[in-house]
Amino acid sequence: MDRVREALKGVARELARSIVPGTTLGLGSGSTVATLLEELSPLILAKAKTIDGVPTSTQIELVASRSGINLVPFRGSVDLVIDGADQVDRELNLVKGGGGALLREKVVMGSSKNIAIVAAENKFVNRLCENGVRVPVEVFPMARQSAKVKLSMLGGVADERLMPKGYPYFTENGNMILDTLFEPVEDPRALEVAIRSTPGVAEVGIFTFKPMTVYRLGGDGKYEVLKRDD
Ligand code: A5P
Repeated sequence: MDRVREALKGVARELARSIVPGTTLGLGSGSTVATLLEELSPLILAKAKTIDGVPTSTQIELVASRSGINLVPFRGSVDLVIDGADQVDRELNLVKGGGGALLREKVVMGSSKNIAIVAAENKFVNRLCENGVRVPVEVFPMARQSAKVKLSMLGGVADERLMPKGYPYFTENGNMILDTLFEPVEDPRALEVAIRSTPGVAEVGIFTFKPMTVYRLGGDGKYEVLKRDD
């Protein structure tokens, strides 16, 4: 077993202790959550058959449907979100949306009593957007040009996300993604709010929720627990 997976297994054991019968999980998207779910679902289903999961994308819905977790539609709130991230800064702000699921991930995370983020150590930086990581901005297709102009006024260089053969990428909500390059971000909350106030922007992949627990997966098979409080 590779060392990151070993660390994920440890996180799964820790999360399983806090998941009781009747818990509704918010299931974030991406490869990390998919692997985590493979480790977590046997542990939680062994002690409770009544665990519900709200998927944030068809990708994680497919994974979760094989896991035995009872999938349910979003009914306005969840107890615990488990999710990944593309980048995590020193204050545990996140960039998310590499898989295009940012809008549903933010809706579900915003409704959750508890948030658990799991990310490999190479995703941790001092400030968001270091190393050229871009912020995904989900826009209504007709607003993409005007949104690009507004994003450039905020210092961003925005490009439409494309599929490998050059076709535009559309989210599960029928929107487009502008992957936007910014200088390393000093005030993620201010940038999140400014981008969101752009007409035609449906959501932005900067996540600044509190409180939040972040599990940092080490290459040595261990993990570290980091807390961001209110
Ligand atoms: C999905 O849109 C994203 O927010 C993912 O959570 C993020 O891209 C992390 O994905 P990986 O776990 O696959 O790196």
